[in-house]
Amino acid sequence: NEIKIFSPATVANVSCGFDVLGFCLDAIGDEMVVRKTKEKGIKITKIEGYDLPFEAEKNVAGVSALALIGHANPDCGFEIEIYKNIKPGSGIGSSSASAAGSVFAINELLGKPYNKTQLTNFAMKGEALASGSEHADNLAPGIFGGFTLVKSTVPLEILELPTPSQLYVTIIHPQIEIKTSEARAILPKEIPLKDAITQWANVGSLVHALHTNDYNLIQRSLQDVIVEPYRKSLIPYFEDVKSSALKIGALGCGISGSGPSIFVLTKGKQKAKDVEEAIKTVYSKTDIEFYTFTSAIN
Ligand code: HSE
Repeated sequence: NEIKIFSPATVANVSCGFDVLGFCLDAIGDEMVVRKTKEKGIKITKIEGYDLPFEAEKNVAGVSALALIGHANPDCGFEIEIYKNIKPGSGIGSSSASAAGSVFAINELLGKPYNKTQLTNFAMKGEALASGSEHADNLAPGIFGGFTLVKSTVPLEILELPTPSQLYVTIIHPQIEIKTSEARAILPKEIPLKDAITQWANVGSLVHALHTNDYNLIQRSLQDVIVEPYRKSLIPYFEDVKSSALKIGALGCGISGSGPSIFVLTKGKQKAKDVEEAIKTVYSKTDIEFYTFTSAIN
């Protein structure tokens, strides 16, 4: 009647795949304890780590849980304890981890009536509360694991992609605030055809590279000519971080989700550690506070 779960952080977009590509981190995530209650409904009883609303209707984990029980109509309720390790607004799927975690846990306690796609659908209601739009590119990798591609949101269709075993990610999080809704508002509504062609060629070749373990092709596909040019100005020293990572042999570097975190993909753990040291020096020279970590993708 009680379950404790780990809900991982995720990187959305992965440079070329705005709103469709994402992958799941191994090293960091939130923990949640969910238990059945006699009283119907959803109650959030504990939140540790960061200051977030306790009212179920105002909390992403609560909203996604309400969407699930609104559909399942179980003859019990649930109370949720949230132990947040992922800083809200950091760009590594903090709200999605909460939204996905509560529905995953409740589904387990109900005997798994829903599949992963259905859980993602419920979690999208919570994600929409945080970001103002129902996208699933952080939720899907958190729920399915590894790399995922959101083929469509209506109807929701998620593709699971393979993860080459030597792929590592390093995250650098400058402690500035970027709201997803604002980072979306600055994007153009229309894009030139020639940029669209470059972008879908990169998405296609990245997916092919993941399937064929082709690290060289991964490197050549990790480019974003549509979103990054607009959003990079929101992140101080983004270009310096990127060029220092690429100079020492990273496969690619881009904005994690809507930022401010920056992700760097590398082949091999040692290279990831070298990248981590190199990009640390960029922010060390500024007065911006930051933290970094390196993770496998799982
Ligand atoms: N795809 C989303 C965006 C992820 O970049 O706006 C952040 O929620």
